[in-house]
Amino acid sequence: MSTAMMKQWVVDHPEKDMGGMDLREAPLPTVGTNEVMVKFEAVALNYRDCAIAKVGEKVREFKKGDSVITIFNQGHQYGDIDPYAASTGVGGTIDGCFRKFGVFNETGLVKAPKNLTPLESSTLPGAALTSWNALYGLKPVKAGQWVLVQGTGGVSIFGLQLAKAAGASVIATTSSDAKAEELKKLGADHVINYRAVPNWGEVARSLTPDHAGVDHILDIGGTETLEQSLHCIKMEGIINLIGFLGASEKPQPGLLDALNHICTIRGIYVGSRSMLQDMVRAFESNNIHPVIDPQVFQFEQGKEAFEYLVWCQRCEHTDLCLLYSRTGRPETLRQSRRSIQSQ
Ligand SMILES: NC(=O)c1ccc[n+]([C@@H]2O[C@H](COP(=O)([O-])OP(=O)(O)OC[C@H]3O[C@@H](n4cnc5c(N)ncnc54)[C@H](OP(=O)(O)O)[C@@H]3O)[C@@H](O)[C@H]2O)c1
Repeated sequence: MSTAMMKQWVVDHPEKDMGGMDLREAPLPTVGTNEVMVKFEAVALNYRDCAIAKVGEKVREFKKGDSVITIFNQGHQYGDIDPYAASTGVGGTIDGCFRKFGVFNETGLVKAPKNLTPLESSTLPGAALTSWNALYGLKPVKAGQWVLVQGTGGVSIFGLQLAKAAGASVIATTSSDAKAEELKKLGADHVINYRAVPNWGEVARSLTPDHAGVDHILDIGGTETLEQSLHCIKMEGIINLIGFLGASEKPQPGLLDALNHICTIRGIYVGSRSMLQDMVRAFESNNIHPVIDPQVFQFEQGKEAFEYLVWCQRCEHTDLCLLYSRTGRPETLRQSRRSIQSQ
């Protein structure tokens, strides 16, 4: 009997350009009793969406045909992340989603939002869930609070959308006046150009009621942004340390600044399955749609997709570029998130 085969992208030469990305044939994986086989329909660069093709006999939560998304850290089911869960990243320590089919334990998936296309859903497990964790993981954002998001990357755009859905006011920063207009269209109450206004933190504080500061900050700039984040955090507010896209040689704030400002500075790592389920409901009930780049690639164009992503980052052209389309037709769009989709 001949073995059923599928196509998958393999990276086994990290020292080479693009990790020596290679499109290869591989045997179709087999399905255990608690596992499901999924057919990938869209893959954002980093993130994934798929439909269930086959289910093991003990699988309870899903049935064939369900549209699902993968959990970034497969072992992070609920509650605090721990060293084991942090070592179960899809596309990191375990095989990623840049292939036609994959097999996951049912606990490694959640149902995709009903209001989203596969292309849209594929952007949720990484950037969106990280924003959700920032806004809900410690002290839930409340209506009337103030949230500051930095730049127009995926984490920040999702942060803006989720904060507005919660009834918060949002201050966004960007280096681009053109993107400032897009941020306003997405609901940002105030936008500050962080290049033109280096003391944007103080300016942001001045925009809040009684100059009290903002309740939640999604800090993605690290050494370049933390000092200004401290300038605009409210007493008992939370600075979520998410990334370090910026680079600064300036002396950095110290740990005692958390005491000086009476705030919480918190590192986060994506989020749990339970948070992802909560977030899916929020996308459905508020009919939130991810902002997607108009450029969509076919599965076989994996290298072109990554090259496009690198180009976008170099010229700061856009943030999210989608790869795929079942019909070969680019989805309509106007936002940002890099993804790929397969037939
Ligand atoms: N901790 C976690 O669990 C987690 C999860 C996901 C991502 N991350 C990290 O979070 C960061 C953001 O991820 P992403 O996917 O949103 O990135 P991205 O899409 O690559 O974001 C790029 C955008 O970031 C903005 N930016 C860059 N430097 C900035 C600065 N100094 N101040 C303000 N904005 C700045 C720019 O916005 P403008 O062009 O508008 O200026 C740029 O277009 C990355 O470092 C990523 O590795 C962490």
